[in-house]
Amino acid sequence: MATAARNSVPKSNVSGPAAYRYPPGLERNLLWFAFRKLRPANPILLFQQLAEKYGDIAHYKIGWHHIVFLNHPDYIREILVVQNENFIKERTVQRTKMLLGEGMITAEGAQHRTQRQVAQPAFHRQRIPEYAGTMVQEAIRVRDRWRAGEQRDIAIDMMHLTLNVVAQTLFATDLGRESGDEVDELASAVNRIMGLYNFLVMLPAAEWLVHMRPPGLAAFVRARKRIDAVVYRMIAAHRQRGPHGSSLLDMMLAASPGQTPASEQSLRDQVITIFLAGSETVANCLSWTWYLLSQNPDCERRFHDEIDRELQGRVPTFDDVPRLRYVEMVLAESLRIYPPAWAMGRYARADFQLGEFFLPAKTTVLMSQYITHRDPRFFPDPLRFDPERFTPEAMSRRTKLTYFPFGAGVRQCIGESFACMEGVLLLATIAQKWKLRLVPGHPVEPEPLITLRPKYGMRMQVESRERPAS
Ligand code: HEM
Repeated sequence: MATAARNSVPKSNVSGPAAYRYPPGLERNLLWFAFRKLRPANPILLFQQLAEKYGDIAHYKIGWHHIVFLNHPDYIREILVVQNENFIKERTVQRTKMLLGEGMITAEGAQHRTQRQVAQPAFHRQRIPEYAGTMVQEAIRVRDRWRAGEQRDIAIDMMHLTLNVVAQTLFATDLGRESGDEVDELASAVNRIMGLYNFLVMLPAAEWLVHMRPPGLAAFVRARKRIDAVVYRMIAAHRQRGPHGSSLLDMMLAASPGQTPASEQSLRDQVITIFLAGSETVANCLSWTWYLLSQNPDCERRFHDEIDRELQGRVPTFDDVPRLRYVEMVLAESLRIYPPAWAMGRYARADFQLGEFFLPAKTTVLMSQYITHRDPRFFPDPLRFDPERFTPEAMSRRTKLTYFPFGAGVRQCIGESFACMEGVLLLATIAQKWKLRLVPGHPVEPEPLITLRPKYGMRMQVESRERPAS
C-alpha cells in the first residue's frame, strides 16, 4: 500500500503559468486495454496498483482524458472542500443521468442548491427522530417473517427492507400494502440496472443508444420503466391527497409556491434519486455488516451483549440509539472495510494547482474510500474488523478524511444522520431475535458497481438467538 511520505499540501495557486505539471503515473494509455476487453478493468485493482506504486497521487490517461487518482486526506480535502467550486461530478456520475435524470446527485450549480434546500428540512436533526418508529416497525416485519434454520439471500432482504423504510419515512408511501409486489418489482429492477451499469459506463454514446433500444440495452430501458411507474404512482397519489402532508415528497410538490410547478419529469428525477441513494447504500452496508459480524464472533458477542443489556428485550426507540454505542461502532467499521460508496470523482472546470502539481481543466480527479480506508498508514492492520477504531478517543487521533464514507464538503451525503440511525435501529431490532451465519461455501466478493455490492449476493442461514437467562 501507499508509502510515499508527504506532510501537507501547499496552498493552491491557480494563477500560475500554464505549464502543466503532472504527478507520476502510468505510461500506457488505458483506452486500448479497456477496448480490448470490452469491459472496464476492475477499477479497485487499478486503484490498488496506483496507490502501491505511486503513493498519494498518481496520473494516467484514458484516450486524451487526464485522470488523477488521490490517496491522501490533504489532497482529498483540497478537491472536495477547499477548491470544490472548480469541480463538478465526473463522467461516470454524469452517466447515471440515464437512470436518475437531474436529481440531487447529478445536478450542478443553482439547480443542485435549490434541490438541496428543498430536501434539507426532511433530513434535519429534529425530523430524524420521527422516522425511528417506522424503521423499527419495518425491521420487525422482516424478523417476524424469518424462520429458524432457513437460508436466505440477505442482500435481497436488506434491499426490500431499506426500500420500504425510505418509501414510508420520506415519501409517506407503503409499497407493500398499497399494491402488492411493488417492492419486489423495484428491487429486481434496481438489480437489473446495477448489473448493466459497468457496461453502460463503458459504452460510447450510451445516452444516445438507450433511445434506440438495441437488444443489449432493452433490459435497462424496461427496468427504468418499472421504477418510473412506481415513482409516478407515488407522485400522483400525493397530488390527489392534496397539500396536507409534511413528507419530503410533499415538500417537493410544494417547492415553488407562486412559480411554475416542478415538471413531472423533474419531480421524478428528484424522487428517484433519494429513493435509490437512500436504499441501495444502506442495504449494502447492512449486508456487509451481517457478514462481518458472522466472521468475527467476539465482536458479535459484544454486539449482542450491548443490545440485550440496553434493550432488556423491548423494541428499540430513538432514545436508545445513543446507548447502542457498540452497534454504531460496528456499523462505522463496516463502512470502513466495505464502503457502499466505494469511489468518488470530480471533473475540473479550470486549470488547478494540487500540491506541487499544476493540472489542466477537464482533468478527472478520482478518490476511493475503499482504498484510503484500507491504507495501513491510517488504519493499521486494515483488513482486521475492529470496531474499537471508532471509540471517540481513536477517532479524535485520526486525521479527517482518512475516513469519508459519506463524502465531504458541500456535496456531503444529505442522508448521513438518517442512514446512521437507520443502521443502528435495523441491526438492533433484527439481532434481538436472530443471528446470521454465512452458508458454507458461499463465495463473498465485493463488486464495484455504482455501489459496492456483494457479487454473488449474501446467502446466510438464520439462527435463533436464545435470550440469556437473567
Ligand atoms: C450507508 C449509507 C450511505 C452512504 C455510504 C452514502 C454515501 C454518500 C456519498 C459518499 C455521497 C457523496 C457523493 C459525492 O460527493 O460525489 C452521498 C451523497 C448523497 N446521498 Fe448518501 N449515502 C448513504 C445514505 C444515504 C441516504 C439514507 C440518503 C437519503 C435518504 C442519501 C442521499 C444522498 C443524496 C441525495 C446525495 C447527494 C447530495 C448532494 O450532492 O448534495 N444517502 N452519499
